Order: sequence, then C-alpha cells, then structure tokens
Amino acid sequence: MLFDDVVLGRRSIRGYKPNPVPKELIEEIIRLAMRAPSSMNTQPWNFYVITGEPLNRIRAGNTERMVAGVPQSREFRTGQGFTGQHRDRQVGVAKQLFAAMGISRDDKEKRQDWVLRGFRQFDAPVCIIVTYDRVLDGSDDTPFDCGAVATALVNAAWSRGLGAVINSQGIMQSPVVREHAGIADDQVIMKSIALGWPDESFPANAVISERKSVSEATVFVGFD
Ligand SMILES: Cc1cc2nc3c(=O)[nH]c(=O)nc-3n(C[C@H](O)[C@H](O)[C@H](O)COP(=O)(O)O)c2cc1C
Repeated sequence: MLFDDVVLGRRSIRGYKPNPVPKELIEEIIRLAMRAPSSMNTQPWNFYVITGEPLNRIRAGNTERMVAGVPQSREFRTGQGFTGQHRDRQVGVAKQLFAAMGISRDDKEKRQDWVLRGFRQFDAPVCIIVTYDRVLDGSDDTPFDCGAVATALVNAAWSRGLGAVINSQGIMQSPVVREHAGIADDQVIMKSIALGWPDESFPANAVISERKSVSEATVFVGFD
C-alpha cells in the first residue's frame, strides 16, 4: 500500500470480526510502529498485547465499574472538558457515528449501549495497552512519544488490512487493566488500542471524520 492510501484510507474501526489475529502479524506491526521518532530516541513506550480470557476479564471489569458509577481513574492528566471549537468537533464526530448507527438523540438505551462498547474495547479480538517507563513520568515529551508510536501503529495495522481505534475509554478504569494485564509497577498506562479485522457490515466503520483545513491549522512564516 502507498503511504497516501494508508493515511487517507485509515479510519477508526469500532466493529470487528471475531477472527483471531496472528501473534506474528502483531509483532510485525509493532516493529513497524517502533520506527516512530521519540525524544532523544528514548523510546519510552511498551506494549501489553491482550486477547482471550484476560481481555474478557478487562471488558467485564470495565463494564461493571462504569455501570456502578465508579469514578474514572486514569494514570495521566486529563485536563478540563472541551469547550468552543474543540467541543464542536467532539460533538461533530459523535453525530456522524450516531447517524451511521441509527442512534437518535433521545434514545438513552442505545446511547448507553454505544458507550459501553468502548469500555468493552469495541469487542475487538485484541487490545494493545500502550504504557511508558515510569522513570520518565513528568516530561511532556513522554506522552508525545507515545502518541507518535500509537499513530504509527494504527497506520501499520491498516497497511496490513487490520483495523484499530485508539481508545481512551478502555483505560478509564486503569486498576482493572493493571490487574488483568499484569502491568508492571514501573509502567504507567497511557492508552489502549483495540485491534482486529474490520467488520465491513458495521455502519460506524464507514464514517470519515472531518478535519480542519491546512490554512486554519497553519501559519507560514517568511514565505512571501
Ligand atoms: C487519544 C485518543 C483517544 C481516543 N479515545 C477514543 C474513545 O475513547 N472512544 C472512541 O470511540 N474513539 C476514541 N478515539 C478515536 C477518535 O475519536 C478518532 O481518532 C477521531 O474522531 C478521528 O477519527 P478517525 O480516527 O476515524 O480519523 C481516540 C483517539 C485518540 C487519538
């Protein structure tokens, strides 16, 4: 696949076929992803790749705690809720997804069901937990580097016919993930990525999210 085909074709996948993903293929994708640049080549990232029963236990634990109203506990700063144009974009993509799934604004049950899918890692056959070395905690370079490797990973997956979604919901109950994935104490949980073969019949998988324009995002200096 050409680079443009990967970057322009990739989109977040939230519905998966149940077919397993070979371990060797996941290794290949992680190897590609780790060509990502990092601050001073520190490569702060690590990966816990989970499938089968341990993943089912994480799904169940996440769901149980969210339904019971246990407050979120993430291992990094989350900032304030979005406002203004950021909120507009958040709502924009949610509207696209709900429209594709036929979920109306006032259908509380279906909306709740959609939210719970995220806590179940979208029922993907594989979940990758991205962690970083705790000794690097406190540097903003560290989450930046994790973002670089996560983006490379979802693109590498796409180039091999696999789908993925970077998923904050999956690590909102980090003690559940920590317990069932056996995350080492010297690791901080950064993010989860659901991974598997895309189910083409799942409507939300067809959604192409919008982007602001280059002129909105970019200031060119010294070109004229
Ligand atoms: C840091 C991060 C966290 C995300 N968390 C979630 C999530 O919790 N649930 C979800 O459905 N999508 C999540 N996404 C996917 C974004 O919604 C998605 O990347 C964005 O809307 C752009 O769509 P695209 O990936 O299809 O291009 C997350 C993406 C990133 C980068």
